Amino acid sequence: MSKNVQRAKFGSKIGVVLATVGCAVGLGNIWRFPYMLGSNGGAAFLLVYILCILFLGIPVMITEFSIGRHTHKNAAGAFKEMAPGTLWPLLGYNGVLAAFLILGFYSVVSGWTLEYIVQAFTGSLQGKSVTDFATEFEQFSTNPYRPIFWTLLFIAMTHIIIICGVEKGIERASKVMMPLLFFILIVLGIRSVTLDGALDGLKFLFKPDFSKINSSVVLSAMGQAFFSLSIGMGCLITYASYFNKETNLQKTALQVTVLDTFVAVMAGVMIFPAAFSFGITPTAGPELVFITLPNVFGHMPVGWLWSFIFFVLLALAALTSTISLHEVATAYVHEELHFSRKKAAWLVSAGVTVLAILSSLSIGVLREYTIFGLNFFDALDFLTAKIMMPFGGMLVCIFISQRVERSVWVDEITNYGTIRFYFLRTYLFFVKYLAPIAIGLIFLNELGLIELLGKVFK
Ligand code: PHE
Repeated sequence: MSKNVQRAKFGSKIGVVLATVGCAVGLGNIWRFPYMLGSNGGAAFLLVYILCILFLGIPVMITEFSIGRHTHKNAAGAFKEMAPGTLWPLLGYNGVLAAFLILGFYSVVSGWTLEYIVQAFTGSLQGKSVTDFATEFEQFSTNPYRPIFWTLLFIAMTHIIIICGVEKGIERASKVMMPLLFFILIVLGIRSVTLDGALDGLKFLFKPDFSKINSSVVLSAMGQAFFSLSIGMGCLITYASYFNKETNLQKTALQVTVLDTFVAVMAGVMIFPAAFSFGITPTAGPELVFITLPNVFGHMPVGWLWSFIFFVLLALAALTSTISLHEVATAYVHEELHFSRKKAAWLVSAGVTVLAILSSLSIGVLREYTIFGLNFFDALDFLTAKIMMPFGGMLVCIFISQRVERSVWVDEITNYGTIRFYFLRTYLFFVKYLAPIAIGLIFLNELGLIELLGKVFK
């Protein structure tokens, strides 16, 4: 029996979409998106973000799906199979490394959600002032022990699901959680926009001030698009390797993107009106969600219950993402380095534990140690979201359009001619020219090279 046949597959159609949505939707939408938007000029950021999703996100996602399902391999193995004896597998290693590094800071924030579940349940989030929440978050996140405890617990939970297998673990978790998450986001969004002074928050989120757009806003928006859609790092290659031959790649990409963007925008609707109403500055940074939402719960009947349900769902959303990140690294160590799946998972968890402890401490006791002015936590975030993922996305487009025979990806995207390839030409134009050039220019622009050239040729 060939290795492909033995590999796990996702069970049902709805399971495929939900698990992939589960991978995409997570802290990136509810924690990272609002704080990035808040510190990068509000609605102007949203606009650039949506452009990045449409013009870069969807084409890169379809491309990664086709590579994953074509090879039925992990991120690195896929490139080895499609371009043996070349440097292309390095692109796969970039993805595996990115997954590992993302887990290094993502598990810390995931751990924070566990602390807030307990606080919500014990009623500790009730009856406090706006400043209390901010001070308590600061004290908690800089504490050397407590956040690490939760982070380790989170890594352990991810580890257990990874060991239990793909279908049972990932699919089941996503099936229950996703619909519930959508529901609670809508409820909290409605509560937030009906608070006094909410209008300013909505304006901040939806009324763009174009003068705010600069190179760093564009880079941040592009990084956020890649991070949120989980593209440019092999996660979707790995997930698509578990798709079956009937999965419609174009439709799945569209569904995942729409749902992911919906969750991010809803998170904005939930956070900004509330932040403005309570006088919390939108540029607060990574603590934005954690210091804004508890105030909203305080203004709801049975607030403790809502906050409890919300943080449980947020933790679950984070879990479906940490599982996918862990899976990228585990599948690689298992299939390419030939460790048993269990051993591979242990190795990955052990490495992530070290990174996560360091990033948690870097917010508190180790904050003096910086890399290019960023603490370890922020440095991991910057390196992965703003460099490795867009870079990976750019190269994946170049790979498919320059290296892979057209018939291979056309067959994959059309399920061997059984479904239509909508926008074939547009797709080709995007992956061949638009995406690589746009990403390249955004990088050059951020490095200040475009400005420099402008001066030289003046
Ligand atoms: N997209 C996930 C989120 O928004 C994070 C993630 C990135 C997951 C890369 C997998 C791969 O939270």
